[in-house]
Amino acid sequence: MVPVQHNYNLKDAHTFHMDVHASLFFEVIGERSLDQLRSNKLLREKPWVILGGGSNVLFTENVTDPVVKISIPGISVRECGSNTIMVKVGAGVNWHELVLWSLDHGYSGLENLSLIPGQCGAAPMQNIGAYGVELVQVFESLDAFEISTGLMKTFYRDECAFGYRTSIFKTELKNKFIITSITLRLHRNRSDLNLDYGDIQNVLNDTGIRNPTPRDVSNAVIKIRQSKLPDPNQIGNAGSFFKNPEIDHHLFKELKRTFPEIPGYAVGTAKVKVPAGWLIDKLGLKGYRNGDAGVHDKQALVLVNHGSANGHQILAIAHHIQDRVQNTYGILLEPEVNIYP
Ligand code: EPU
Repeated sequence: MVPVQHNYNLKDAHTFHMDVHASLFFEVIGERSLDQLRSNKLLREKPWVILGGGSNVLFTENVTDPVVKISIPGISVRECGSNTIMVKVGAGVNWHELVLWSLDHGYSGLENLSLIPGQCGAAPMQNIGAYGVELVQVFESLDAFEISTGLMKTFYRDECAFGYRTSIFKTELKNKFIITSITLRLHRNRSDLNLDYGDIQNVLNDTGIRNPTPRDVSNAVIKIRQSKLPDPNQIGNAGSFFKNPEIDHHLFKELKRTFPEIPGYAVGTAKVKVPAGWLIDKLGLKGYRNGDAGVHDKQALVLVNHGSANGHQILAIAHHIQDRVQNTYGILLEPEVNIYP
């Protein structure tokens, strides 16, 4: 049987590192133990809170619903031809360990996604993305356990409704399935590395690298991330707190008149994506602090716990930012982080 833990402290089970407790806590290391959980009477009545690396969640209260922590291990490879492999990865594998594993074995595709906190099972939930690459570009399929029936189901890319920081598992199928493994398609000897985003090319130039390898790109991304994003083991945070909003062209044009330097990237023909970090920074909120809850001083999109902040204090800062952004630019910022309850 899977051991049940009562009144479990979640401080080290999520990256905001708040002092919150779960009334019931279970750790799952294989698909078989998921089946055992379904027959456990303590768990029947309430919805489960599924936790991977806890890197995209804000707890504002102690958790009275059962917390199920996914720790399914394993990386296995299926060769697919001279230049492509398929790799099946347990949901509990740490994402950056997978990236390093792929580089150690000479496979490319994940280098731009280096150092993203969290576990592999959570990666498809919000279609993780960074430095010009999103998971969907390497994603093949995933296996998931249906909580209501106990059946396993495979979802292929087209069935996951991937979008910017979203998938069917965040919308229609929210809380209905537990992702147990993901299968990715990686490449060997790939020359078309993605170097276009932001500072990657600058960092490579600074280090005198002209013909970068996937490892060089990964090192550049690590350097950029470390310079802007706080290490969750040192300062509690959950990465970007808000999504970058997509606004109508005409609103963007209007804003451009008042803020000529506002950045924006066309999304299709009708919308423009604006960096929320810029909007918040422009309001002078970078480094803003209320007690131990604050806005990171190098990246305004990241909210931080300097020590003993609680979820309500972080949420109060988030609401303050949303109000200021709405009043100044007429834009509603949507949280990217999952907020419990
Ligand atoms: N900017 C500012 N001030 C700030 C922050 C950003 O002016 O305080 C400006 C930057 O100068 C730049 C633009 O905003 O012109 C974009 O900034 P950045 O490249 O840092 O990226 P981002 O849009 O803030 C997104 C992702 C990050 C990802 C980076 C790199 C979202 C919500 N966030 O951030 O993802 O690492 O791009 O690709 O899409 C995460 O999801 O947790 C995360 C960290």
